[in-house]
Amino acid sequence: MTDIALKVARIECSADAIRSVVLVQADGAALPGFTPGAHMRIHLPDGDDRPYSLIDFDAACDAPDHYRLGIRLEPESRGGSRYMHDLAEGDSLRASVPKNDFALAGGDGPVVLIAGGIGITPMISMATALRAGGRPYVLHYAVRNQGAAAFAERLAEQHGDAFRLHLDDQAGGPLDLAAIVASADDAAQFHVCGPKPMIEALRELAVGAGYDKDHIHFELFDAPADQEGDTAFEVELASSGEVHVIPPGRSIIDVLEEAGEDLIYDCQRGDCGICQTDVLEGIPDHRDVVLSDAERTSGKVMQICVSRAKSPRLKLDL
Ligand code: FES
Repeated sequence: MTDIALKVARIECSADAIRSVVLVQADGAALPGFTPGAHMRIHLPDGDDRPYSLIDFDAACDAPDHYRLGIRLEPESRGGSRYMHDLAEGDSLRASVPKNDFALAGGDGPVVLIAGGIGITPMISMATALRAGGRPYVLHYAVRNQGAAAFAERLAEQHGDAFRLHLDDQAGGPLDLAAIVASADDAAQFHVCGPKPMIEALRELAVGAGYDKDHIHFELFDAPADQEGDTAFEVELASSGEVHVIPPGRSIIDVLEEAGEDLIYDCQRGDCGICQTDVLEGIPDHRDVVLSDAERTSGKVMQICVSRAKSPRLKLDL
């Protein structure tokens, strides 16, 4: 089974511009289970799809009677959040079965969960599972202000002192990641979901403090935004010699797939590493969070879901 027919059972307002959508199986049948950190891809009417993390407050993700998603309305989005915000109770939609690319680290050691903004969604299921399993954990949740703190009240009730809400406006600045890393147990596993600068900063701090890379797990909550000054560039395929133009606002994957190329990819945010492609000529403009500094500097590989080019043309091993 690759797809599920779902129905909107309930819609709740969780914070400014954030909706919580509760879905059930359209025919009333049992839903497939999932593991903390999992997402499902919601199919949009235009044929595209978008990933959304599954939220479990009840330690019931093995055999859920509903799926809960949290969606922030993005005025500049490519359509996914607008579609999800326009849904009404009783509406039907289709989604992929749950998949997990951001699994909770195994073992019984302490876990540090760090969420920025809507990056809280996968962290909720992780915190629920950690609490249920009696494993030590702390959940840091950073938002601009109280109005943006989706699910905060329920998280405070469920997790007590293990839940640390950071409001930028009250604290006078962003979450102090350096202090979090400095106070973490030597054996801690870090899980971070938020914007790219948060993930990059946490990785740098944790690696600098001596944590092994396999103790640092991350997921971007959204694809990197287009940047001002983005321009078109060409991609040459080594196998065929074909040249395609990648305009601003479209990814290499978007253009090549439309041209009939069979590509392997998943997150389309630059964090899973699956679309990594060898660069034979040209200079990539890296926008992912998955490559190491050495890989970036080498310019020999790139993530074609988000990264672009600094040179007029890239020749890719495709
Ligand atoms: S599809 Fe995940 S990094 Fe490109």
